[in-house]
Amino acid sequence: MLEPFGEEDAKFGFNSELFNTVKKGKTLVEFSSPNIAKKFHAGHLRSTIIGNFIANLKESLGNHVIRMNYLGDWGMQFGLLGAGFEQFGSQEKLNVNPLQHLFDVYVQANKEAEDNKEIQLAAREFFQKLEQHDSQAMSLWQQFREITVKEYQQVYKRLGVPFDVYSGESFHQEQAREVVQLLQTRGLLKTTERGTSVVDVSAEGDMSSCSTVLRSDGTSLYITRDIAAAIDRKEKFNFDEMIYVTDKSQQNHFLHLFHILRLMGHPWAESCRHVSFGLVQGMSTRRGEVVFLEDVLDEACARMLHNMQQATTTKEMADPGDTAEKVGMSALIVQDFRGPLEADYRFDWDRILQAQGDTGVFLQYTHARLRSLIRTNSTMAAKEIDPSLLLEHRSIAILQHLLRTFNHLVASALRELPVKGSPDDVAQARLRLFSGACSVLASGMRILGIKPVEKM
Ligand code: ARG
Repeated sequence: MLEPFGEEDAKFGFNSELFNTVKKGKTLVEFSSPNIAKKFHAGHLRSTIIGNFIANLKESLGNHVIRMNYLGDWGMQFGLLGAGFEQFGSQEKLNVNPLQHLFDVYVQANKEAEDNKEIQLAAREFFQKLEQHDSQAMSLWQQFREITVKEYQQVYKRLGVPFDVYSGESFHQEQAREVVQLLQTRGLLKTTERGTSVVDVSAEGDMSSCSTVLRSDGTSLYITRDIAAAIDRKEKFNFDEMIYVTDKSQQNHFLHLFHILRLMGHPWAESCRHVSFGLVQGMSTRRGEVVFLEDVLDEACARMLHNMQQATTTKEMADPGDTAEKVGMSALIVQDFRGPLEADYRFDWDRILQAQGDTGVFLQYTHARLRSLIRTNSTMAAKEIDPSLLLEHRSIAILQHLLRTFNHLVASALRELPVKGSPDDVAQARLRLFSGACSVLASGMRILGIKPVEKM
């Protein structure tokens, strides 16, 4: 019998022809990429889920994958955060609940800054200090960054999403200056009446034909840092392919980025891709509008546990909390793949956690049912089986699905096929079929980033 996630299992269901013909290389996948002190929105969660899937998929096909998280850890807002912290921050609160405290300070500082010139000035000064690498300002910033990463790492672990590199916009401020210089020497830079420096990207054929790479006060922008970051990554990792995963509101940003890289003479710009996805509306938890990733995960888990307690079919299990967590996470994950990637959708807890239909809950349920079937009939498992005994059309349909590799339809075809009450050899053949189906299902789930449960 195949144990779930054994050596053999991990590759089970993979079409070796596909595996051998797919081009293999080094892929850098940049995803999740939240911003320090700002809210973690549904788009970041979607990027985390889709990015993890792309990385898993590439890896399972034999690519060397680098998983990168590119934090929003630089820019004017850190002036406000720093100045705000000096006024109404508390080291103690920072230690107890860092993400909450940084967010609170940032919100308060923003509010104050609306009609308080002093704090505006303080913010500008603080950011200048940062840009000049003033040691005091830098050590506060460093602290903000470190605790944020640490907090995030815990939540990513819950989701089962690993990162190889935590990079960020701050890594590229110096290089951003060099980029501007390079653009200048190549004659690609134009100065506007407002004193900003721009690159003509009209060849991309969209409405805004210029991309601003330098403010009039000489500070760099999001795109400037992205140009520098891309060049730096190519040098450091020498990837064959780089994939950015964000919502579709950044489509123009990436078109501009790739175009500028091409203008700068980087042929590898052709191997950069933006995978964009639709916007998610109305994601909220009992605490209100989503601010922290952790709250979404807690809510998914709590709601799932509640549903499990209500359902009469729920099995006795050693750790219902753990099962609820895994199934809750898969519900969140599967939701993001239900429709076309580019489509927007409205977040709805009830729909996401439905026990039937194309939901993560049903996927887990199917897997758990198969595992239970295999468990309860383990004494029957035979070394040699005769596949020609699988005559009924549903068995053949399952085989066909399995041969076409992962197909979630296998779940519905599988439902009522009995093992018990058949002649031994037929039952053994069916059991092997289920066990194969179960492994394929588990492999597919693993690529999606889902941890299969044994019982539910
Ligand atoms: N931090 C950005 C945001 O929250 C996403 C970063 C996407 N990646 C990039 N290389 N620009 O919108």
